[in-house]
Amino acid sequence: MSYENILNENKDGICYITINRPKQLNALNGATILELNKAITKANNDNSIRCIILTGSEAKAFVAGADIKEFAAFDKKDGENLARQGQKLLFDLLENATTPSIAAINGFALGGGLELAMACHIRIASDNAKMGLPEVSLGVIPGYGGTQRLAHLVGKGKAMEMITTAGMLSAEEAQQWGLVNHVCSQDELIPMAEKIASKIKHNSPKAISKAIKAVNAGFTDGINGFEVEISEFGSCFETPEFIEGTTAFMEKRKANF
Ligand code: CAA
Repeated sequence: MSYENILNENKDGICYITINRPKQLNALNGATILELNKAITKANNDNSIRCIILTGSEAKAFVAGADIKEFAAFDKKDGENLARQGQKLLFDLLENATTPSIAAINGFALGGGLELAMACHIRIASDNAKMGLPEVSLGVIPGYGGTQRLAHLVGKGKAMEMITTAGMLSAEEAQQWGLVNHVCSQDELIPMAEKIASKIKHNSPKAISKAIKAVNAGFTDGINGFEVEISEFGSCFETPEFIEGTTAFMEKRKANF
């Protein structure tokens, strides 16, 4: 499949998706969101893909936000549509994908860019990265899930400060705040993501997908995460991967999933 706004390559069980609108600092316009939807859906339906790595092509930007030029003339209804469609097509899709994703944040991750990284399951950042939700400086609020996911990740108090000040965190501060798991040099960013992906690749994809579902359930209104965990735990026992995992343990060998 050919794309105009993203680069997409599969190698050794990893799907690499690179947002590629360098002149606009990889801002997310509607077309890019649709392409990301296609690439993520495809990777998620492909059993040979065990991890998705998402990054930005422009040396100084992961994604500088939703495309401001595209929504500058919107009214209330258009605004609601943009947020609802975007959340459904990309951000919720990514968070609920059964294939784990790693955001490799290589520069500015602002507004929709940080929201995209927060919808991934794991975040790592290079030491030049800057992260923030500057929407209130434009007279809007985060619309791609930022008010919710930021508070989940860093706590309500810190989320309130980041959102109301429209300030940016350095990579180091983001790590201290629990927003990213690891910080490294720019050169080490993709190798570090690959190192995490290679650990993921050794484990049961079915069990990983059930674990993602159970963790996400705890952050979903009206759903009891413990109950989802019990049910997903039980359903593991009818998978061939459970038989392989436990048999391999008993036979003192590595499981082959
Ligand atoms: N949308 C559209 N275009 C953008 C953009 C965005 N979010 N961010 C950067 N660009 C464009 C700039 O307009 C500029 O294009 P032109 O050369 O055609 O003018 C180009 O990318 C380079 O940007 P700058 O010249 O501004 O680069 P800089 O190094 O001086 O500054 C920056 C970098 C601090 C990231 C600055 O570009 C910036 O503040 N960008 C906007 C960040 C922002 O507010 N993001 C939130 C968007 S709103 C949102 O995301 C809503 C939502 O939740 C749904």
